[in-house]
Amino acid sequence: MNIAMLGTGYVGLVTGSCFAETGNDVVCVDIDEAKVELLREGRVPFYELGLEELVERNTREGRLSFSTDLGEAVKRAEAVFIAVGTPQVSAGGADLSQVFAVAEDIARAMNGAKIVVTKSTVPVGTAARVREIIEEHTRHGVAVVSNPEFLKEGTAVEDFMKPDRVVLGGDDADSLERLKDLYEPFVRTGKPIILTDTRSAEMSKYAANAILATKISFINETARLCEKEGADIEQVRRIIGLDHRIGPHFIFPGIGYGGSCLPKDIRAMIAMGGEELEMPLLRAVDRINETQKGLLLEKVKDHFGELSGVTLALWGLSFKARTDDMREAPAIRVIDGLLEAGARVRAFDPEAMEEARKRYGERIEFGGSNYEAAEGADALLVLTEWNEFRSPDFPRLKELLRGPVIFDGRNLYDPAAMRRQGFVYHSIGRSGG
Ligand SMILES: NC(=O)c1ccc[n+]([C@@H]2O[C@H](COP(=O)([O-])OP(=O)(O)OC[C@H]3O[C@@H](n4cnc5c(N)ncnc54)[C@H](O)[C@@H]3O)[C@@H](O)[C@H]2O)c1
Repeated sequence: MNIAMLGTGYVGLVTGSCFAETGNDVVCVDIDEAKVELLREGRVPFYELGLEELVERNTREGRLSFSTDLGEAVKRAEAVFIAVGTPQVSAGGADLSQVFAVAEDIARAMNGAKIVVTKSTVPVGTAARVREIIEEHTRHGVAVVSNPEFLKEGTAVEDFMKPDRVVLGGDDADSLERLKDLYEPFVRTGKPIILTDTRSAEMSKYAANAILATKISFINETARLCEKEGADIEQVRRIIGLDHRIGPHFIFPGIGYGGSCLPKDIRAMIAMGGEELEMPLLRAVDRINETQKGLLLEKVKDHFGELSGVTLALWGLSFKARTDDMREAPAIRVIDGLLEAGARVRAFDPEAMEEARKRYGERIEFGGSNYEAAEGADALLVLTEWNEFRSPDFPRLKELLRGPVIFDGRNLYDPAAMRRQGFVYHSIGRSGG
């Protein structure tokens, strides 16, 4: 199939590369010329495991190319995917200006009937609006299909290649059949391709993110109660996770969820409720998360009192492990709070230091390794659950730190073991730390 992928960010690039990998001809389009130039040189502008190899191979074999020319890509395509950003507007809803702008551009470029697929996460009714916009600007036929994406940054290629399910929402049988064929190579293990209406497809993406965010805020609220009542959230988590109705996933306590999806999608879902539906559960989920992001900062302030002149080492900057994405990362709240209180910050992250440099410039220092970041610091804050932070050389760490104090925002270490080794150890929701 000839495909135009409009928007070459995390979703567009992964989707486009994976479609090329299964033999399709894909042109990935972006308005960001520097990004397109970088990709043409075979370089991926962000860190995602396995993606560079996929881009390199499919570009070399002629199935994948990059362009800023949307019109040309649309003209040669049978299916046009919209994978542009849908950031949050200040009132909390989704900003659909990029989606509507490309819808108009698609219509103006159309030279025949097209399947237009909304891949971006968009509120219910957007596919219908996209169709209206296109029909206002062209006489060619169009079928609009909603195809929400469920990949996770960090394992995006793997998630796309082996999805739990593929969702196709639309009412045009031929275009649904064409897209079903397109996805068939990805569901060979028997995972379903679910055909539904556009509105249910759009809602399913928000509902999926909302339940994940709810689980995280639930466990974080319970962690706070554990701290107050002298219980251990890690014990509680294990016990409840063994109940198959609950399951072990997404109930890890921490310093709140971040990233480019959960925070904005929860708020977009609240906004969808409008004046009719207050959406009290999701409002609470969002509020709990905002409080949780500030929790480690509170603990640091309680411990040190005055922070001016105090140096804090930070391990982890990205919103989660295996990505360099810092959008809405809890680390931002922590760093902003520390700098505001006059502390010095020295950070290390395996992938996200470039991103942090763009945001903070010279205002924070960076270590060449996690140990270098810790050298001479008054305390260590663990903010991201990178594997390489899980079993550090604790005697070495203790020697490097000026004060043997650890604030662990991800509960990576055992409180008793930390105490035995002479650390003052603070973590989330555990009686011993
Ligand atoms: N990142 C994720 O993990 C993830 C997962 C599932 C769904 N989503 C959703 O997918 C969508 C895209 O997310 P992302 O993380 O890939 O965003 P992103 O910001 O990484 O990429 C969006 C890209 O679209 C480009 N763009 C904007 N206007 C354009 C135009 N007129 N023509 C061509 N390109 C244009 C931007 O330059 C940018 O490169 C969002 O709706 C998001 O909610 C994201």
